Amino acid sequence: MRVLLVGGGGREHAIAVSLIKSRHVDKLYCAPGNAGIAKIAECVPVGTMDFDALTAFAKENKIDLTVCSMDDPLCAGIVDAFEAAGLRIFGTPANAAVIEGSKAFSKDLMKRYGIPTAAYETFDDADKALAYLEKAPMPIVLKASGLALGKGVLICNTLQEAQDGIRELMTDKKFGDAGSQVVIEEFMTGREVSVLAFVDGSHYKLMSSSQDHKRIGDGDTGLNTGGMGTFSPSPFYTEEVDAYCREHIYQKTVDAMKAEGRPFRGVLYFGLMLTGDGPKVLEYNTRFGDPETQVVLPRMKTDIVDVMNACIDGTLDQIDLQFEDNAAVCVVLASGGYPGSYEKGKVISGLENFDGKDAYYCFHAGTAFNDRGEVVTSGGRVLGITAVGPTLKEARAEAYRASEWVTFDGAYKRSDIGKAIDQA
Ligand code: AMP
Ligand code: GLY
Repeated sequence: MRVLLVGGGGREHAIAVSLIKSRHVDKLYCAPGNAGIAKIAECVPVGTMDFDALTAFAKENKIDLTVCSMDDPLCAGIVDAFEAAGLRIFGTPANAAVIEGSKAFSKDLMKRYGIPTAAYETFDDADKALAYLEKAPMPIVLKASGLALGKGVLICNTLQEAQDGIRELMTDKKFGDAGSQVVIEEFMTGREVSVLAFVDGSHYKLMSSSQDHKRIGDGDTGLNTGGMGTFSPSPFYTEEVDAYCREHIYQKTVDAMKAEGRPFRGVLYFGLMLTGDGPKVLEYNTRFGDPETQVVLPRMKTDIVDVMNACIDGTLDQIDLQFEDNAAVCVVLASGGYPGSYEKGKVISGLENFDGKDAYYCFHAGTAFNDRGEVVTSGGRVLGITAVGPTLKEARAEAYRASEWVTFDGAYKRSDIGKAIDQA
């Protein structure tokens, strides 16, 4: 099979590694890819939102299957564009991708179908939102309803912070139209777990659980980022939690989307919080999480193309989705200054230390080639260093050891990824 992968981040590098391992894949293209993906796929300089150029490429190059797991193209209808052109694609159609693209939609869906989530109100008028805040308990959570690169969530400890937040989102439009509608939500406490599921419209199959670390600093301090590291499985995702979520969350969500005339196909990401009142949904995403994918897919035993085909064909119930009985930890190396401003173009050294080492992965997130052909930094999150081991503790020790094999000027990493494991 000839496969085209759309994207160029750490998640896509992890998906590319799984695709290359598939017994079905003879040739892999990636648009636009990055310097790491270029080692295993042919990268083509086409943008992820240029659907005309992507479908033309797929036709000209006789692509059998295209894979897309990015929020912007999915919400903008990449799956619909490919299918209208008669092309096969794994991903979520736009009318179902709205589960991530509009928090107002997903919160209303959960309310109507009795899926546990934080209490909330939705506003499209700043004055009404400000009036509501006067009587609301603090802390409180403000969320831009639309897509905001994972940065549109503000946790406000005081009324003043919340009022400033509403002005930032709704009046100053810091995240553009994403903030025209704002969800104001009850603040919850508890451990967070990410659960990814393959979905075919009617059935779901869960991948192994994981946990992200969203803040830039050790001890979960500082600004929110796209994710500074992950581990899988989560020891806090117990059989009891799993049973509760299967009864109250997963199938109910799949059924709700179907009942709404928006059957969900693709990867559905459940961001859960394990609260004192049981697990609740923090958010849905319509794609593989990043960097969750960098610890989940290296542990997946089942051929990813078989699973993707089953999602497209509605035959997921016939797939026995299996994971290794082991663990993985990913430590992200970021550019100094991220998530604020940072420099690009720093030469990365030591990448060859990962060659031929099966239990270690150096996933490229923000890398490119300079005109001398050297691999350089080109983004905030640069590399995801993943190690797989028999236990979480061993995987963590190995991930940190491997994170020393590679470096670049100003490289920053958290030193406490997976620390929560010690409390399990
Ligand atoms: P989201 O993009 O919706 O996952 O939000 C980003 C992060 O904000 C989550 O991973 C949580 O850490 C935090 N968060 C979101 N909603 C809430 C909430 N209702 N209560 C407490 N923390 C929240
Ligand atoms: N790691 C969080 C996300 O992918 O949205």
